[in-house]
Amino acid sequence: MNPLYERQRAVTVRPARPDDAEAVRAIRNHAVEHSTALWTLTPLSAAEGAAWLAAHLERGSAFVAEAAGEVAGFAVFGPWRQFDGYRHTVEDSVYVREDRQGLGIGSALLGTVVAAAREAGHHVVVAGIEAGNTASIRLHERFGFRHAGTVPEVGTKFGRWLDLTLMHLRLS
Ligand SMILES: CC(C)(COP(=O)(O)OP(=O)(O)OC[C@H]1O[C@@H](n2cnc3c(N)ncnc32)[C@H](O)[C@@H]1OP(=O)(O)O)[C@@H](O)C(=O)NCCC(=O)NCCS
Repeated sequence: MNPLYERQRAVTVRPARPDDAEAVRAIRNHAVEHSTALWTLTPLSAAEGAAWLAAHLERGSAFVAEAAGEVAGFAVFGPWRQFDGYRHTVEDSVYVREDRQGLGIGSALLGTVVAAAREAGHHVVVAGIEAGNTASIRLHERFGFRHAGTVPEVGTKFGRWLDLTLMHLRLS
């Protein structure tokens, strides 16, 4: 059997637990330090990582992909913007450990998040993606997200301007 298929098959997506906080933080901090997926250079401390996950756990909006007893990725959804008029819209985030990317784990996570957001009664899911992040754009297209526009040069990291591509999925 194809070894890549074997590795993908062995992945389970489940709701996150408090004891996933350190593994999730490590994946998130790696993206902070090495990529333009998150537009900050400030990693989360252990306490901040636990608090960040706890807020999602309360809402039931955090999931992890587990492979061979290890967390290989995570996904969350949360409020897109703060004013109450935005309350039926959520934003998703999906992160896969670098050595596990391209194996279908992001797809498994995003599928779970979209289903959970729909079940929770939300109307729209938005993704804000750095315009050059072809993997994330392709991933979201796979789940029916449509391009809603690109806002040029609204961010900066590693000494260059970043464009934000917004993608949109209507759930109901
Ligand atoms: C974006 C990310 C979550 C995708 O997860 P993944 O497990 O690698 O994705 P999958 O293997 O499920 O592939 C999903 C789709 O993206 C495509 N894809 C994956 N990696 C790709 C790459 N490097 N370049 C182009 N397309 C890519 C796959 O081919 C697949 O499309 P297909 O169905 O047309 O074949 C993952 O690469 C990642 O964690 N990146 C770093 C963090 C990040 O950018 N998060 C998103 C922030 S908005």
